[in-house]
Amino acid sequence: MTSVATLQTTEPAPARRPVPRRFVMCRPDHFDVRYSINPWMNPEAPVNRALALAQWDALRETFERHGHRVDVVPGEPGLPDMVFAANSGLAIGERIMSARFTHPERAAEGPAFHRWFTGRGGVEVVAAAELNEGEGDFALIGGRFLAGTGFRSSAAAHREVELHFEMPVISLELVDPRFYHLDTVLMVLDDATIAYYPPAFDETSRTLLTGLFPDAIEATDADAAVLGLNGVSDGYHVFLSPQATDLAAALRARGYLPVPVDVSELLKAGGGIKCCTLELH
Ligand code: ARG
Repeated sequence: MTSVATLQTTEPAPARRPVPRRFVMCRPDHFDVRYSINPWMNPEAPVNRALALAQWDALRETFERHGHRVDVVPGEPGLPDMVFAANSGLAIGERIMSARFTHPERAAEGPAFHRWFTGRGGVEVVAAAELNEGEGDFALIGGRFLAGTGFRSSAAAHREVELHFEMPVISLELVDPRFYHLDTVLMVLDDATIAYYPPAFDETSRTLLTGLFPDAIEATDADAAVLGLNGVSDGYHVFLSPQATDLAAALRARGYLPVPVDVSELLKAGGGIKCCTLELH
């Protein structure tokens, strides 16, 4: 007789459900690598803007084909990193906080997005007073924010966001300069699940994350090295780099459906899929 215990050892992956999202993306009309503010950026290496545009278009189209709405912000001349819309701020319902960038090279992007948000009407837009690179460093999950600091957004920004949005903010310290934003090493999969790369965090943060998310997916070195965690999940589909093959396998085993989208040309500026995508929560 087969024992019930034996049958129960391999639990089936839970059924996942995609939730339609609203995203903001910024066309890379003026994309370039002209300065270096992270270790990925080499201003000497040529950038193929036509390819960047084609890859960005394919990403936008893939989101739409999967039922998500995308609002497009025009890029501005002289702001080659503006394509990374995730950094532009935080948007929850009618409340929007526009970013305050760490590096002078990107400073004008804050007011540019602020104007765009304000122009939409029906929203209350405030400009961050503290250094705050938006969803680059702030990840909303289950009614609270996980927030990165160490390279860009400041600890003071974490407190400012907590007060403004009236939501708890859990501060995490990033320690590897290749992974200068939280969204380069931590991806929210659904309201209760994350994938992340533990070595990018200090010990206190790692302990916090294991406590909060005991069933998190831990990414491999290879996944992290291609910014595989810089993806976007709708709760079922996970849009991610085609090079993040370990992560794709781990996601499939957990009942998610990886959707590979290649934005390799944007990676030359140190950005991936999530960097291009701000969510209007
Ligand atoms: N070159 C940009 C920077 O260093 C890339 C930003 C990527 N964005 C992100 N959300 N991680 O600021």
